[in-house]
Amino acid sequence: MEIKKIACIGAGYVGGPTMSVIAQKNPHIQVTVVDLNSSRIDAWNSENLDELPVYEPGLDQVVAEARGRNLFFSTDVEKAISEAEMIFISVNTPTKTYGKGKGQAADLKFIELCARQIADVATSSKIIVEKSTIPVRTAATIKSILDHTGKGVQFNVLSNPEFLAEGTAIVDLYNPDRILIGGEDEKAINALKTVYEAWVPTERIITTNLWSSELSKLVANAFLAQRVSSINSISELCEVTGANVDEVAHAIGQDSRIGSKFLKASVGFGGSCFQKDLLNLVYIARSYNLTEVANYWEQVILINDHQKTRFAEKIIRSMYNTVNGKKIAFLGWAFKKNTNDTRESAAIYVADHLLDEQAQISVYDPKVQESQIYKDLDYLATRSADENKELLKVINDPYEVAKDAHGLAILTEWDEFKDLDWKRIKESMKKPAFIFDGRKLLDKQKLEGLGFVYYAIGE
Ligand code: NAD
Ligand code: UGA
Repeated sequence: MEIKKIACIGAGYVGGPTMSVIAQKNPHIQVTVVDLNSSRIDAWNSENLDELPVYEPGLDQVVAEARGRNLFFSTDVEKAISEAEMIFISVNTPTKTYGKGKGQAADLKFIELCARQIADVATSSKIIVEKSTIPVRTAATIKSILDHTGKGVQFNVLSNPEFLAEGTAIVDLYNPDRILIGGEDEKAINALKTVYEAWVPTERIITTNLWSSELSKLVANAFLAQRVSSINSISELCEVTGANVDEVAHAIGQDSRIGSKFLKASVGFGGSCFQKDLLNLVYIARSYNLTEVANYWEQVILINDHQKTRFAEKIIRSMYNTVNGKKIAFLGWAFKKNTNDTRESAAIYVADHLLDEQAQISVYDPKVQESQIYKDLDYLATRSADENKELLKVINDPYEVAKDAHGLAILTEWDEFKDLDWKRIKESMKKPAFIFDGRKLLDKQKLEGLGFVYYAIGE
């Protein structure tokens, strides 16, 4: 089956970049990315490529090449569905905030809405591709909705989870470790395989049954998050024993069975997916009465929560047990470098903790907008929006942020922070000038040489 038109529902961090690369590499396929959010679509269509709704290194060039040629962004969901032979579902699957499974299960209402809309609109056969991360066996739900249209239209559901990481999305999409396709129908699987074979070597395309593919995505994120929590738990042990967590990570990482990647101790993992997918895995295990399995994976989240709290408490303790009225400068708000995404960023929780102690926080992040920072804090509903505005200021200059601060915390590992004029910063801060490096980004010797009191995770 030759695919000529693809639709993707959801123009977010996954749908946007993934479809841009698919379109770039398959100029003969028309790719239309649709979303209900019209301001997001407007931003994808923006003349000025700096205004794309997702910041990813290299994304602007991909969009510049394909947009208007065979890549389109639109709010006309129905038209895109009705024309396409293959439809990717790339909508958000957040943690439920209500009812059964609140705080743990994935909320599948957006997925179900997509399935219903496809069922309503489709008049010809379609391949439906689950791109969103979903609980294992969701394909059965989608299929059940689609198979009850009574219109005699044939639907094939495939699972094709996405493994890109934000900040490196384009590199990851260009050169994936693997592409995973789960499904039952050989022809549908081959049709999707052909789309990827435009640039991915065939041997890197793995095919499995539907349930293995769906579950593998949750498991991959659980394993990655587990590595971060494992090294973060060791960072606390390093702090009391005199070991250095970077040295330990390097030493164990040389063992090829362990591997050196993803062992960077930090203030805690953030991002829209690790916690959400772990919670989902825990919920699924509990729903099958697998208590030990659930408790095991839940611990990864508990360690992460502990790491964020521990960092905030370290700041308070070091600054003579009170931060009331003291200015604390935050460098970074995004959950990692090279992204404007702040979902579940450790910075939000550390700030919230310090604001409870009535600290005055000032924030600088090179890519995150002021409105987003307030939105993140207000969402926690710990205090009123007015109080958040009063206690926390967003400043577009790292030197202004640091000026007159009692302490400075690094929350995101942006490269540009390494090259700041630290002597100038030291001179403008209150003394003793404390630095709390939640990313082990800076050079301890250099900063101590300048007279900072320097604290880093895991030393
Ligand atoms: P996102 O919130 O950035 O984007 C989702 C988009 O879907 C939103 O713009 C929303 O308006 C749109 N949408 C929701 N329902 C819709 C509907 N019925 N019709 C049209 N549009 C609709 O989310 P994201 O970060 O792109 O994540 C999407 C999925 O991909 C999630 O399941 C996530 O777990 C998974 N995932 C994300 C990443 C990542 O790095 N962010 C990586 C791999 C997998
Ligand atoms: C992660 C996975 O890496 C992707 O494979 C997956 O597709 C994606 O989740 C998803 O499903 O959403 P992402 O969250 O974008 O990607 O970014 P990561 O690089 O995994 O970082 C996640 C968090 O862990 C960040 O806060 C990062 O700072 C932290 N981290 C990562 C560490 O603290 N130490 C490390 O060694 C690595």
